[in-house]
Amino acid sequence: MNIRTAETRDYDDIRRLYLSAFPESENEIVAKLATDLLFEHSNPPIIALAAEIDGSIVGHIAFSPVRIDTFEQCQAYILAPLAVKPDFQKQGIGSALITYGMEQLSDRGVHIVFVYGDPNYYGRFGFKTYLAQNYKTPYPLQYPFGWQAITICECNLKNSPASIHCVSSLCDPLLW
Ligand SMILES: CC(C)(COP(=O)(O)OP(=O)(O)OC[C@H]1O[C@@H](n2cnc3c(N)ncnc32)[C@H](O)[C@@H]1OP(=O)(O)O)[C@@H](O)C(=O)NCCC(=O)NCCS
Repeated sequence: MNIRTAETRDYDDIRRLYLSAFPESENEIVAKLATDLLFEHSNPPIIALAAEIDGSIVGHIAFSPVRIDTFEQCQAYILAPLAVKPDFQKQGIGSALITYGMEQLSDRGVHIVFVYGDPNYYGRFGFKTYLAQNYKTPYPLQYPFGWQAITICECNLKNSPASIHCVSSLCDPLLW
C-alpha cells in the first residue's frame, strides 16, 4: 500500500469510495464533504491523503484546520472524513491513514486534533471525549458522545468553553 496526497483529479475515485463505504442514508453528504475538501484552500492547508493499492484508491482521509475562538495560539485540526473501501477493510488501512496524517500534523506543530465519530474506533488512537468537551461545535451534535479530541503537542488546553470554526466544506449542519 502507498499513501500519497489526494488531488482534485481523484474526485471520481474518492466519490465512489465514500458512496460504497457509508450507508445510503449518509453516503452522499460524506462523499460531498470529501470531494469539496479537494477543492478548498485554507491557511494552514487541508491535508487529504489517499491510500492506493495497485494504482487504485482504497482509502481516503482528510484533516482540515480549526480555529478556536480567543485561543489563536493553539493550532487545531479536525479529522473528517475517513473511509476504506469495503473489500479492503480490516487490513490496517484506516489505521495507517490516521497514523500517517497525525505524524504530518505533529511535524507541523499542531496541538490538538478533533474528530466526530465512533469512540470505539477512534478511542484506539487515543481520542477522548473529555478532551473535546470544552470546544463548542459549529452546529448541535446529533451524537454528542462522538465528539472527541487528542492532543499531539503540548498546549495549555482551554478549561472554559470556546467555540470552534471549521473550513467552509464542514459548515453544513447535516454533517454534525
Ligand atoms: C472505519 C473504517 C475507516 C476503518 O477502516 P479499516 O481499514 O477497516 O480499519 P483498520 O483495519 O485500521 O482497523 C480495523 C479494526 O477497527 C475496527 N472497527 C472498524 N470500525 C469500527 C467501529 N465503528 N467501531 C469499533 N471498531 C471498529 C474493526 O473491527 C477492526 O478491528 P480488529 O482490528 O480488532 O479486527 C472503515 O471500516 C470504514 O470505511 N467504515 C465505513 C465508513 C466509516 O465509518 N468511516 C468512519 C467515520 S467515523
